[in-house]
Amino acid sequence: MPDKVHKPVEPASPMPEFDKAPVLRVRAMPADTNPAGDVFGGWVLSQMDASGAMTAARRSQGRVVTIGIEAMKFHKPVLVGDELNCYCRVVKVGRTSITVDIDTWVRRYLTDEPHHVTEGIFTYVAIDQTRRPRLSSTWGWTRDDEHEDWALTLPG
Ligand SMILES: CC(C)(COP(=O)(O)OP(=O)(O)OC[C@H]1O[C@@H](n2cnc3c(N)ncnc32)[C@H](O)[C@@H]1OP(=O)(O)O)[C@@H](O)C(=O)NCCC(=O)NCCS
Repeated sequence: MPDKVHKPVEPASPMPEFDKAPVLRVRAMPADTNPAGDVFGGWVLSQMDASGAMTAARRSQGRVVTIGIEAMKFHKPVLVGDELNCYCRVVKVGRTSITVDIDTWVRRYLTDEPHHVTEGIFTYVAIDQTRRPRLSSTWGWTRDDEHEDWALTLPG
């Protein structure tokens, strides 16, 4: 039965339209730079991690922790003043884990120029209050065979 309650992989979306709402949008500020004035890769990574965690928490209806990051690539630099946009897509739901593909785009300061700056695959584990992994079969997603879709069944 576990297969019946796993939310399936979402269909691959085309490159996000730049004005589509990202999971997270934030401006890179001077405080986010190193002494040379470049934005820290770690700052960008933490924005991605936070946006992926929000996506995974919503999917699992609860607390999550990051367990792995792979296929991380920094394509272009992020500059002070850039508007950073993180787009997230759930690509896998396992027994206790959720894998999120994250693409980050910036709009350069005072321009409309979009640049694809980073991408990465972030994996989160759903945990309970005692930090033990929560099974995806308990997350509340059920299959609506009539409409060939998945729905969240909330308690009560
Ligand atoms: C999350 C945690 C409770 C999981 O416990 P664990 O015993 O290591 O769990 P498991 O080995 O059973 O793995 C759990 C899931 O993660 C997956 N996983 C493990 N290592 C992974 C990795 N490097 N990359 C991606 N997925 C990974 C497993 O495949 C498994 O997925 P599934 O249940 O969907 O099949 C524990 O590792 C932990 O607390 N880690 C610290 C998390 C944290 O603090 N993150 C913030 C870091 S600053």
